[in-house]
Amino acid sequence: MKFFIDTANLAQIQEAHDLGVLDGVTTNPTLMAKEGIKGEAAITQHYKDICAIVDGDVSAEVLSTDFKSIIEEGKKLAAIHPNIVVKVPMIKDGVKAIKWFTDNGIRTNCTLVFSAGQAILAAKAGAAYVSPFIGRIDDTNWDGVELIAQIAQIYSLQGYKTEILAASIRSALHIVKCAEVGADVCTCPLESILGLLKHPLTDIGLAKFLEDAKKM
Ligand code: G3P
Repeated sequence: MKFFIDTANLAQIQEAHDLGVLDGVTTNPTLMAKEGIKGEAAITQHYKDICAIVDGDVSAEVLSTDFKSIIEEGKKLAAIHPNIVVKVPMIKDGVKAIKWFTDNGIRTNCTLVFSAGQAILAAKAGAAYVSPFIGRIDDTNWDGVELIAQIAQIYSLQGYKTEILAASIRSALHIVKCAEVGADVCTCPLESILGLLKHPLTDIGLAKFLEDAKKM
């Protein structure tokens, strides 16, 4: 399973990259706004800065919701860097746009996916990635990881090539569960990635080794 970081914060992207486990980045308008990125020139520069840190796919989300504007915006985003993947919402014009991008050699990430039916549509349209939001599903008292498992089974049975990118990750446990049920990618906040490091017995064991090392 690939690890993407779900942030537009350059310091966090650098930290995950330096850990040596980072395969890509996902952003969304909320994450970009959080970093104070405003206006087309600043947005373009920020994606360039991200692509300079990470040698992997970087999802850049369109802000338009009608077919023609999604295409225009997506073409501009894709032209920024070969690693840019155009992130398109799961709406009717979004699905049409994903098909257009697929036919024209531009890779897409279909976002805001909350059901297996939506994931099937994304795959049929040829999305490179589908992004089910598992944390937000958990928030509604459904099991987000179960959706990942269901999509993984369907894609495997049907031979769909779209990669399952588990998004809206809230914990290290989410990452483990997604790996268990066959997600191709997990896009995570830095804290969830670093959370994988933690085990009290590791800390206790290391303290003991360091103590005993003084006797060596
Ligand atoms: O980038 C999409 C997704 O990961 C958002 O997560 O935490 O806002 O539900 P969250």
